[in-house]
Amino acid sequence: MPVKIIIEKEEKHTRARLGKLYTPHGVVETPIFMPVGTQATVKTMTPEEVWETGGRLILSNTYHLYLRPGHDLIREAGGLHRFMNWHGPILTDSGGFQVFSLGPLRTITEEGVEFRSHIDGSKHFFTPEKVMEIEQALGADIAMVFDECAPYPCDREYALAALERTTRWAARCQKAHHRKDQALFGIIQGGVFNDLRARSARELMELDFPGYGIGGLSVGEPKELMYDVLDHLIPLLPKDKPRYLMGVGSPDCLIEGVIRGVDMFDCVLPTRIARNGAVFTHKGRLTVRNAEYAKDFRPLDEQCDCYTCRNYSRAYIRHLIKADEVLGIRLTTIHNLHFIQRLMDKIKEAIRQDRLLEYRAEFLSHFQAG
Ligand code: GUN
Ligand code: ZN
Repeated sequence: MPVKIIIEKEEKHTRARLGKLYTPHGVVETPIFMPVGTQATVKTMTPEEVWETGGRLILSNTYHLYLRPGHDLIREAGGLHRFMNWHGPILTDSGGFQVFSLGPLRTITEEGVEFRSHIDGSKHFFTPEKVMEIEQALGADIAMVFDECAPYPCDREYALAALERTTRWAARCQKAHHRKDQALFGIIQGGVFNDLRARSARELMELDFPGYGIGGLSVGEPKELMYDVLDHLIPLLPKDKPRYLMGVGSPDCLIEGVIRGVDMFDCVLPTRIARNGAVFTHKGRLTVRNAEYAKDFRPLDEQCDCYTCRNYSRAYIRHLIKADEVLGIRLTTIHNLHFIQRLMDKIKEAIRQDRLLEYRAEFLSHFQAG
């Protein structure tokens, strides 16, 4: 098997686990946060800069790379790793989430999804087989199945139909997937209905994937509902396979996810808010763009030792962003990725010491969740 998780420790008081994920491009520690590089770049960062913040596994997107520059071109370049010069492991999401987010631009049938490009309006058709062709051409270490992500809110019937289709498409993906140096993960759907989640998990486990994505969460539901789904779902999953909570990455959700047994996360949040001039600090989110920081010569976060905080002030970064200088959003991106990766380091250390619940309490005592 190209990708395998070895669990090295289970935390005493929670479902958190410490592990090592073995991939064709190296071993990474879990729980892990994966920075998002949608278009074969973590926006504004070189691969070396991503590595410097602690990023070890990055996510990229089938939908975007298929539309531009095209998967044939990336195959010709020698695959995604060589194309973008990232030497560590990569995971590609299937486009299941992106094409369903297109709204009126797409039509779903049993065969697949017809959609119009957000770039030029051209018509395209994704089937599970087509998505496997693309993901195998990209050549990431981990590919995700083509799934149907139900929106929130959505009724039981809709969530049931989406999860059943996701199972059928997962089986078709498996049949069309042949790369021996790439793992194909299933994706659990079922909305916020715990019995449907259990059913989705059972059906996918029958197909025996080397890892399981948990999709359809963080789509607008209250956080408590997401935590409840994880509480019920994760104990049903095999202990010896990685669990990947898709699209989740706010600091509080990372801690809560790990406590419930999640091994992998990805989210655009740290990089996206950075480009809007917002940063994480140990006290919560800070919008450095705001006028109140015009003469604030302190670092973004006084407890941070990232490249940005060691060298630049809030006032300078605010000036850069107000003046539309690209360095501004590069500095906030470095800081946010560093902040999230240090959080994951502290979480891992707390698991090692069986003190994860104490760590959560300590973190939440100063961090104002947004
Ligand atoms: N990213 C966040 N949620 C999802 C999901 O449900 N499916 C896929 N494919 N990607 C996601
Ligand atoms: Zn910093």
